[in-house]
Amino acid sequence: MEKFFVEKSPPLKGFVNIGGSKNSVLPVMASTLMSGETHILNGIPDLSDVSVMFSILSEFGVTIDWDKGNSHMKINSKNIFNKEAPFDLVTKMRASFLITGPLLSRFGHAKVPLPGGCQIGSRPVDLHLKGFLALGAKVSLEHGFVEVSASRLAGSEIYLDFPSVGATENIMMAAVLAEGETKIQNCAVEPEIVDLANFLNACGANIEGEGTDTITIHGVKYLHPSQHKIIPDRIEAGTFMIASAITKGDIILKNAISEHLKPVIAKLKEMNCLIEEAEGGLRVSCVGIQNCVDIKTMPYPGFPTDMQAPFMALLSVVKGSSVVTETVFENRFMHVSELKRMGAEIKIDSRSAVIEGVDSLTGAKVRATDLRAGAGLILAALVADGETEISDIHHIIRGYYNFEDKLKSLGAKIRME
Ligand code: UD1
Repeated sequence: MEKFFVEKSPPLKGFVNIGGSKNSVLPVMASTLMSGETHILNGIPDLSDVSVMFSILSEFGVTIDWDKGNSHMKINSKNIFNKEAPFDLVTKMRASFLITGPLLSRFGHAKVPLPGGCQIGSRPVDLHLKGFLALGAKVSLEHGFVEVSASRLAGSEIYLDFPSVGATENIMMAAVLAEGETKIQNCAVEPEIVDLANFLNACGANIEGEGTDTITIHGVKYLHPSQHKIIPDRIEAGTFMIASAITKGDIILKNAISEHLKPVIAKLKEMNCLIEEAEGGLRVSCVGIQNCVDIKTMPYPGFPTDMQAPFMALLSVVKGSSVVTETVFENRFMHVSELKRMGAEIKIDSRSAVIEGVDSLTGAKVRATDLRAGAGLILAALVADGETEISDIHHIIRGYYNFEDKLKSLGAKIRME
C-alpha cells in the first residue's frame, strides 16, 4: 500500500489549478441514468470516486467514454437494463446511493445496498426514503438492501428534517420525470445542488428555486441531450487556501469561485490572510497570519464540514485557543488523535474540540482515517519538523486529483511511495 511522505516545507508559492467538483460530478453522472440520450460533461476530475461511479453505471449498461486528459466524458444510457446494484461498488462510496432516484424514475424499481463511504457518522438514508415514499414509491429495507418501487411517481410536498445534500439530490432526480409538481422544503442549498439542477434543466427538466430552501420541480416527460461543465471543487480550493495559510505562503487558485468559499475566506481574513481576486482565480497570501479563530460547521452557506479537519490542522499551529464545533456529522473528529501524535494539543468535549496552538508539530507515522482527515494531516505535515508518514492514502485520492504533484509544484516536499 502506498503512503505519502511529507517533510517540513517552505512557504508554498505559485499557481494551482482547481479541478471539477467531486460532489457535483457524482450526482450529475448518476442522473444520466434517467435519459436515453448522450450527454457531454466537461471538467471531470480524475478521482477514484469518479471511477467508482463509472464502474457502477457501466454495470447497468451505460456507455461512458472518459477522456481523462481533457477532463471530458460522453455518457449514454440508451440501452441500459435494471438489476440489483453491485454491493462491492456501492458500499465503497456513499454517493453511490444517488443512483436510487434515477433508477426508480427510469424503471419504477431499484434495489441498492445501503451505502458506504467515509466512516464519519451513522449517515442514514431515512430522508432519501421519506422523499421516495412521498412521491408514491413503496420502500423496503431487507438484508442490507433498500428496495423502492412505484408503477408511477407523482409530485408531492416533502419537508426535510435536515437539509441533507444527498437526500435533496436523490429526491430532486426522482421528481424530474414524476407527474405533476414536487416541492422539497428545507432542502440543501449547496452549489453542487445548483449544478445538478442546472445540468438537469439543460436536459429539459423544469426545476426552480435551486440554491434556496425550497426547490420546485414540475415533472416533464423526457430529457434530451445536453452539454455541461462541472463547477470547480470548492473543497479542493479551500484545502489549498489552508495549505497557503499553514505555510505562510502566497498561492493563486485558478478557477476557484470565491462566492462558494465565503465562510473559509471570512475565517482566513479574520486570521489576517490577504485574499483577493487575481489572474483568473483567487490569491491567498498568508505571510502575516496570526489570530486564532473559532469555527462551527453548518450546512451551506455555513462553514463546510469538509473543511473542518484541514482547518483544525491550521489552528493546531496558530497561537492561542480555538474551538471547533462539528454540527453536521456526529463522528468527525477521528483526525484529532492523529494530529495529537504530531504534537497538537487538542481536547474533545462532545461535539467541540478545543485547540491550544503549539509552536511546532513533529513528523510522525499517522493514518488518514477519512478523505478530509487525510488532507488535514498532509497540511499539518507541511509544517511539522522532520518527516511525516501518512498511510491509508486511498481515502485521500478519492477526492484530490494529483494532490502530490500540485503541492510539489508549489514547493511542498511530498512524495508517494
Ligand atoms: C455530502 C457530501 C459530503 C459532505 C456532506 C455535508 C457528496 C458526495 N458528499 O454528503 O462531502 O460532507 O454532504 O456537507 O456530496 N442524514 C440523515 N438522514 C439522511 C441523510 C443524511 O440523518 O437520510 C444526516 C447525515 O447522517 C449527516 C447529515 O445529515 O449527519 C448531513 O448529511 P448529507 O448532507 O446527506 O451528506 P451527504 O449527502 O452524505
